[in-house]
Amino acid sequence: MELLGMTTIFLLICISCLLLITTWRNMSQNGKQPPGPFALPLAGNIFQLNPKNLPESMKRLSEKYGPVFTIHLGPQKIVVLYGYDVVKEALIDWADNFSGRGNLPLFKRVFKGTGIVTSNGETWKQLRRFALTTLRDFGMGKRSIEERIQEEAHFLVERIRNTHEKAFNPGRFLTHAVSNIICSIVFGDRFDYEDKKFLTLIYLLDENNEYQNTIQTQLYNFFPTLMEFLPGPHQKMLKNIDEVDKFILEMIAQHQETWDPSCPRDFIDAFLNKMDQEKENGHSVFTVESLTRSTLDLFLAGTGTTSTTLRHALLILQKYPEIQEKVQREIDRVIGRDRSPCMADRSQMPYTDAVIHEIQRFIDFLPLNVPHAVIKDTKFRNYFIPKDTMIFPLLTPVLHDSKEFPNPEKFDPGHFLNANGTFKKSDFFMPFSAGKRICAGEGLARMELFIFLTSILQNFTLKPVVDHKDIDIAPLITSAASIPRPYEVSFIPR
Ligand code: HEM
Ligand SMILES: *[C@@H]1O[C@H](CO)[C@@H](O)[C@H](O)[C@H]1NC(C)=O
Ligand SMILES: *[C@@H]1O[C@H](CO)[C@@H](O)[C@H](O)[C@H]1NC(C)=O
Ligand SMILES: *[C@@H]1O[C@H](CO)[C@@H](O)[C@H](O)[C@H]1NC(C)=O
Repeated sequence: MELLGMTTIFLLICISCLLLITTWRNMSQNGKQPPGPFALPLAGNIFQLNPKNLPESMKRLSEKYGPVFTIHLGPQKIVVLYGYDVVKEALIDWADNFSGRGNLPLFKRVFKGTGIVTSNGETWKQLRRFALTTLRDFGMGKRSIEERIQEEAHFLVERIRNTHEKAFNPGRFLTHAVSNIICSIVFGDRFDYEDKKFLTLIYLLDENNEYQNTIQTQLYNFFPTLMEFLPGPHQKMLKNIDEVDKFILEMIAQHQETWDPSCPRDFIDAFLNKMDQEKENGHSVFTVESLTRSTLDLFLAGTGTTSTTLRHALLILQKYPEIQEKVQREIDRVIGRDRSPCMADRSQMPYTDAVIHEIQRFIDFLPLNVPHAVIKDTKFRNYFIPKDTMIFPLLTPVLHDSKEFPNPEKFDPGHFLNANGTFKKSDFFMPFSAGKRICAGEGLARMELFIFLTSILQNFTLKPVVDHKDIDIAPLITSAASIPRPYEVSFIPR
């Protein structure tokens, strides 16, 4: 109790100081700032925002304040962009101004200012460019990324076959398959599903997914100095990340021992080559530290996103057996049963393509996007937004725009089909965001979604354990990501 009392007092003092500083900074700027609800001292807009459903709170605020408004999460000021027009104007028309990453304290603590997702400036530019080049098909190694995914899809299908039509929760299988793609790209090889080292790595990443959603971890972003001293799941998460770091460092050391600059096997080798090329440059951003962070980024950004999307997909397809059947007919017509699906098939499969787009639109995986920041003073729609202000370019209002996608809350592949059955592109399809910070793994993710899904449906029909009419496909919103309700399914060989 004693400790709790002291903590509260300390907390209040911290917040008041921060608040004074922010208010002072805001008043010293001239120019009109975007409107927003009155922010309480200490708490910010905590009473106008429902932490369990932030997208809904944002909708209400936009109805009152318009498409550009200001909110305060604790002492942190954030400008929210709501709707396709403003998001496009900021991320695409003024791409450079809005290309900063809003740096939450937790990001800073974990990524130490380097890596791809949370860095800024020259470090970000160079590491991102390097990752994009390397992730491009045939960007490294002998095998293309497509071949790596096909190989993994094959293992996944065999593993599913071994469940012999028994109903089970497919989450773990999907996570293993998806993480193995990153393993293959970064470490040069996939791991066997029973491999102890692999299972430890996955276990740590899985646990962290849970810790991330705890209130303590969220609080770290607002009161980092204080939370650094308090026990809780956020500490376990930081410890886990140290473990993953150790794992990655070990793999880097192994690569260094067997490294042959003339034939880079994977992402780590390609990075070692780059370090070698720049070894005379005292300011090179290519260091063992930034290699470790970039690798961690690929795991953290590339695993949960894609495997959860697949988990949604398998639930949605159970809900609509007629859609599943139509996809299977297209698979049989274009691919047949005797060879693995490949990316060249997609252009001939408009229905399947539309279904995958609709899955990503419907589930709206990252409703709030990932925080951005303006990297210079910006005049946006007559508002003044000072340099370094955090920006939330929301994705929900874009993906669920009711003019572009009539009945946006309904799952309907017709949202991406022309009347004559051809694929219909939409500028509103932004699950990977847009502009200079657009997901660096978009190409990879779309390859994984297409090859994994078509491989599964080529070989199995999904059978729900309840009447398909009773399946609820509406996503659960956690603090940041949309996840499917837990379910079991059986896979019936075709
Ligand atoms: C369905 C799967 C995925 C979705 C929905 C998704 C979505 C996103 C979104 C919304 C962002 C933030 C963009 C912004 O700040 O404007 C992002 C960033 C990023 N994603 Fe993905 N992502 C997916 C898969 C992947 C994969 C497989 C990788 C692994 C290579 C990856 C790597 C990254 C990286 C490195 C960034 C940071 C980019 C930067 O800050 O420059 N993502 N992703
Ligand atoms: C699906 O099954 C067929 C045999 O029916 C096989 O040839 C094909 O390789 C399987 N697909 C995958 C991805 O394993
Ligand atoms: C973006 O930055 C450029 C260069 O500093 C500036 O000229 C431009 O006005 C900025 N855009 C907005 C919308 O403020
Ligand atoms: C199908 O319809 C779209 C738009 O309605 C049109 O652009 C396209 O040329 C048509 N394609 C065919 C093969 O008729």
